[in-house]
Amino acid sequence: ASSCSGVQERTLIAVKPDGVQRRLVGQIIQRFEQRGFKLVGLKMVQVSEDLLSQHYGQLRTKPFYPSLLHYMTSGPVVAMVWEGHNVVQTSRSMVGHTNPAEARAGTVRGDFSIHVSRNVVHASDSQEGAQREIQLWFQGKELLNWDCCDQSITC
Ligand code: PPS
Repeated sequence: ASSCSGVQERTLIAVKPDGVQRRLVGQIIQRFEQRGFKLVGLKMVQVSEDLLSQHYGQLRTKPFYPSLLHYMTSGPVVAMVWEGHNVVQTSRSMVGHTNPAEARAGTVRGDFSIHVSRNVVHASDSQEGAQREIQLWFQGKELLNWDCCDQSITC
């Protein structure tokens, strides 16, 4: 008998250009896999200003917005959709505080970054935000709803 269930909560995690350039993609993926989350979408993208202006729309009036756009277009981003129980909230705690100075050791930012303008990774901040961001970054057909129902594989 299979214990496969339907679609669970999902979130968008993006390794920002500094994370890609510093070869941190593998370590970040490993943290999500070992925690127990399921990877259902993955791609490397050179992000357009159009997508960013939608993604970071609420930040348009912030003084750091132009430098944020410049940073996020400075190289490829690895965008991922992860699925699992409480994945939005748990991912936020795995990623750590937005400002690396406040991020605890053991979090991605607490282990790998020192400045908010190079904070390595993005994680959706709410379930509604995650749905919006996933739709923005991924086409439906790019998300794969797979199961590991093979009894010889530990899921
Ligand atoms: S705010 O001002 O409270 O709305 O912003 P905050 O929630 O702290 O951060 C929102 C996103 O903006 C990024 N950010 C920055 N990027 C570049 N430079 C500076 N100075 C800067 N300050 C904040 C921050 O990392 C958040 O991006 P994501 O991708 O969501 O982590």
